[in-house]
Amino acid sequence: MPKSALFFLLLSLPAFSHALTNPRDHPPSPFNRRSSRNVPSQGFYDPTDNGGSFLTKVNGTSPPGLHEPINAIILGTSDDTVLVDQQIDGGLRNYFVSFGFSGECLGQHEGNDQGADLGDGNGTKNETGVIRWNYGDPTVGTCQETIQGGNHFRYWVQDGSQANSGAIFLAVSYELPAKLQHDIIFQGYNLGRDWLVGNATAQSQIVPTTNLTNTTTFSGQTSANGYVYQTDVSYASGFLVNGSEGINHFLSVGANGTNAVDGLVALLNVKVLTKPSGATSSSASHGPRPLEWPLSITLLIGVFAAISTMATFS
Ligand SMILES: *[C@@H]1O[C@H](CO)[C@@H](O)[C@H](O)[C@H]1NC(C)=O
Ligand SMILES: *[C@@H]1O[C@H](CO)[C@@H](O)[C@H](O)[C@H]1NC(C)=O
Ligand SMILES: *[C@@H]1O[C@H](CO)[C@@H](O)[C@H](O)[C@H]1NC(C)=O
Ligand SMILES: *[C@@H]1O[C@H](CO)[C@@H](O)[C@H](O)[C@H]1NC(C)=O
Ligand SMILES: *[C@@H]1O[C@H](CO)[C@@H](O)[C@H](O)[C@H]1NC(C)=O
Ligand SMILES: *[C@@H]1O[C@H](CO)[C@@H](O)[C@H](O)[C@H]1NC(C)=O
Ligand SMILES: *[C@@H]1O[C@H](CO)[C@@H](O)[C@H](O)[C@H]1NC(C)=O
Ligand SMILES: *[C@@H]1O[C@H](CO)[C@@H](O)[C@H](O)[C@H]1NC(C)=O
Repeated sequence: MPKSALFFLLLSLPAFSHALTNPRDHPPSPFNRRSSRNVPSQGFYDPTDNGGSFLTKVNGTSPPGLHEPINAIILGTSDDTVLVDQQIDGGLRNYFVSFGFSGECLGQHEGNDQGADLGDGNGTKNETGVIRWNYGDPTVGTCQETIQGGNHFRYWVQDGSQANSGAIFLAVSYELPAKLQHDIIFQGYNLGRDWLVGNATAQSQIVPTTNLTNTTTFSGQTSANGYVYQTDVSYASGFLVNGSEGINHFLSVGANGTNAVDGLVALLNVKVLTKPSGATSSSASHGPRPLEWPLSITLLIGVFAAISTMATFS
C-alpha cells in the first residue's frame, strides 16, 4: 500500500472518529422474537442433533472444503437485552464494545462470508456479521484490525423454528495482517477464543490456553455506555472435534504435533447488572445526526481510496 494512502487513513481516524456512530456490515437480523425463544437448560441446542455442525463452511479454501471451528457460544440463557443484535439499549453490539470488539471498518464488509448450519431447521445460513478487535476505538478501530490483523469472529444466531434458543454462535480466530492474506496465527483459533474470553471476563492475566479443561471457568464484568455486563464462562468438550483434519489453515495453525483445534467451546452466560439511569426500552434510531453526514462521507471517500490500493482480503 502506498505510504500516502496509509497516512491519509491514519490521519483521518482520530479526527473523524465521532462521525460514525454505528458502522455495521449486514442489516440487523430479525432475531429479537424473544417470546418465541425456547431455551434448553444447557443454553443452546447441539447443532449436530439436527443435521448441523460446529464447523463452518468456507468457500474457496485450498484444498476445497475446509472448515473453521465454532468455538464460543453466547448462551440463550443470557439476558434478553444482550441477545438483541443492536447497538442501542445495551444490545449485543454494545456488549461486544464492552470488551473491545466492534463492527467492521466503517461498515465496509471485507472477507468472504462463511456459512453455518446450527441445526435449527434453517439449513446453512451466512454469518450475521464479522466483529473485530477495535484497538481501543469502538468507532473506527476495526479499520486498524483489518490492516494489521488481530482477533476477530463471525457469528450466527440459532433462531430457526426447530431450535430457537436465541444463542449466538461465534467462530473466533486471530488473523495475521492483510498483507499476509489474513492467514491465522499458530494456535489462532484457540488463542483467539481465549483472548476473547479473557477480555469478556476482564482477566488481569491471559487465559492459559494449554491448561484449559472442560471444568475451567472464568467470570468478570465489563461495561459500555452505562451498561454493566456480568459474563460467566465455562469450557465444554464433546461438541467440537479435537484435531486438525478438515480445518482451514491447518498447516499454520496446528504444527509440530499440536492440533489446530483443541476441542473446547467457551460457553458465555451474560447478565446485565446495571443499566444507565434513564434507559428505556425504546428502540428509537440513534444513527448519525444530520450534520454528521458530510463528515462521514468525507471519511468514507478517504478510506475507500486507501483500501482500494491495498492487497486483497481473505
Ligand atoms: C450468502 O452470501 C453470498 C455472498 O457472500 C450470496 O451469494 C449467497 O446468496 C448468500 N446465501 C444466502 C443463503 O443468503
Ligand atoms: C458457497 O458456495 C455455495 C455452493 O456453490 C453457494 O451456494 C453459496 O452461496 C456460497 N457462499 C458464499 C458465502 O459465497
Ligand atoms: C430461520 O427460520 C425462521 C423461521 O423458522 C425465520 O423466521 C428466520 O428468518 C430464519 N433465519 C434465517 C437467517 O434464515
Ligand atoms: C484482550 O485482547 C487483546 C487483543 O486480542 C489481547 O492482546 C489481550 O491479551 C487480551 N486480554 C486478555 C486478558 O486475554
Ligand atoms: C499451566 O500448567 C503448567 C503445568 O501443569 C503449570 O506449570 C503452569 O503454572 C500452569 N499455568 C497457569 C497459568 O495456570
Ligand atoms: C470432561 O472430559 C472428560 C474426558 O476428557 C470426560 O470423561 C468428562 O465426562 C467430561 N466432563 C464434562 C463435564 O463434560
Ligand atoms: C515447528 O518446529 C520446527 C522445527 O523445530 C520449527 O522450525 C517451527 O517454527 C515450528 N512451528 C511452529 C508453528 O511452532
Ligand atoms: C486434545 O487432544 C490432545 C491429543 O491429541 C490432548 O493432548 C489434549 O489434552 C486434548 N485437549 C482437550 C482439551 O481435551
